[in-house]
Amino acid sequence: MYYNMYSRLVNVRTFGGSRPCVILVLLMPKFYLTNAIAYVNAGPHMGHALEAVQGDALARYHRMIGDEVYFLVGTDEHGSKIQQVAKDKGMEPQALADMNAALFVDFHKKVNASNDDFIRTTSERHKEGARKIWELIEAAGKFYDKEYEGKYCTGCEAFILDKDLVEGLCAIHKRAPDVLKEKNIFFKLSDYSEAIKAKVESGELEIRPASRRNEFLSFLKEGLQDVSFSRPKKTLSWGIEVPGHEDQVMYVWCDALTNYMTALGYAEDSELYKKFWPADVHLIGKDIIRFHCGIWIGMLMAAQLPLPKAVYVHGFVTSEGQKMSKSLGNVVDPMELLEKYGADPVRYYLLREIPSDDDGDFSRERFAVVYKDELQNTIGNLVRRVLTIATKSFEGKMLQGDGHFNERIDAAWERYREHFEAFNIKGALEAMVELARLANLYVDEEKPWVLAKTDLARLEVVMGNLVVLIRVLGEMLEPVLPETAEKILTQVGKDSLVLGDALFPPID
Ligand code: MSP
Repeated sequence: MYYNMYSRLVNVRTFGGSRPCVILVLLMPKFYLTNAIAYVNAGPHMGHALEAVQGDALARYHRMIGDEVYFLVGTDEHGSKIQQVAKDKGMEPQALADMNAALFVDFHKKVNASNDDFIRTTSERHKEGARKIWELIEAAGKFYDKEYEGKYCTGCEAFILDKDLVEGLCAIHKRAPDVLKEKNIFFKLSDYSEAIKAKVESGELEIRPASRRNEFLSFLKEGLQDVSFSRPKKTLSWGIEVPGHEDQVMYVWCDALTNYMTALGYAEDSELYKKFWPADVHLIGKDIIRFHCGIWIGMLMAAQLPLPKAVYVHGFVTSEGQKMSKSLGNVVDPMELLEKYGADPVRYYLLREIPSDDDGDFSRERFAVVYKDELQNTIGNLVRRVLTIATKSFEGKMLQGDGHFNERIDAAWERYREHFEAFNIKGALEAMVELARLANLYVDEEKPWVLAKTDLARLEVVMGNLVVLIRVLGEMLEPVLPETAEKILTQVGKDSLVLGDALFPPID
């Protein structure tokens, strides 16, 4: 028996069938999802676009299955990188942060992200919360002062050990780190190596995909090192002042990681904080696993605060097969794509073409192919063909099918759900596209344009079956292509059929 999305997923997930709506209101699970907060040294790039649409698809999926979702994004505005870029541009760091944070806010709107909040680390609510967490760690006796000489990579915003340098350069940013000799406050992260390992091994802290979990576990084998958690104001003034140490600012990662709590109103112990913390998922890129699974978890353990449940790690987007770089001239501006094509085609490419948990490439040629093959031909034409015939032959009235696709639809929902819950959005979309392909084959076999002249009774059954399937496509597309899904579900309404404009017009 085919159910609609809502009852189907709720039944499968939790209640096994009976009266889901009534129970749902009482047991609505919460789902707190955070994206990494972006540095404001520049505007958004394709990597940010990937993370924004992945996070948004997860958030929308969880809303669809009935969770009470809170989805957070934001900007990371302190630290050497911002101070340096502002200096180079002859700007005040705050002015640079304001300018680029506005670009990120606008970008999230353009990509149709359904974030519930946008946190900026220069906001008062954030600073207050960050100081509160600092004080808890201090009260636990986990800070100590140390005169320190080390190599600092501004790109990573981290000290780097000699063994991690490649020919004297940072392996990620390919630049020689700065040698710093300072008196800093250190966080005793080494005290938490074993406890963190135990949480990851037991699955209490889930890291997806398994390859990233294993990578982090093998990194833990060496044991975590203590981390410099402050910088003297005389060398870095752009940061949150350390409580009780006015000559120091917080290390930017210590400041930034706390955003996941401060945004909820941790500083004033708000209802929102009590309801949503701990996070269900932190979504991050592969370059910042150690900060999230190491430093952040250690900070929370020291402060005796609840730990996030899962960290989902995505890969990196390359451009035309190479790392995006200004000198190669292959930097793709997501805003340009969004303005030209709208949110849905860009969202579709990033979610369908790039493996959710691995690296992938953006190329204009592939973008055009995916748009044409799957969006225009497989989905767009199907909807148009079916609705043209259905509205012409039956004047928009609802049609009775014979359940032809029910089993396939049930199986597709099952796969879709499993993939989404395993952070495989690409796989969930594969289940959706296969259903659309199946419908196209059915149209080719049944030849409704012939039936329209020869057998109206059969035509009604065929059209009825296709309409049910198209509605499912609309429901499956809701988390991924919200605008298209709405258009489909308006055309294939619960009690009427309306032929609308082409879903995906030709692009150049
Ligand atoms: N500010 C830190 C995160 C602090 S979270 C408490 C940061 N900012 S970032 O702007 O460099 O990156 C933001 C997110 O985008 C991170 O998850 C990062 O991994 C991701 N990406 C940055 N470049 C990327 C690609 N080229 N491809 C995919 N994601 C990438 O890190």
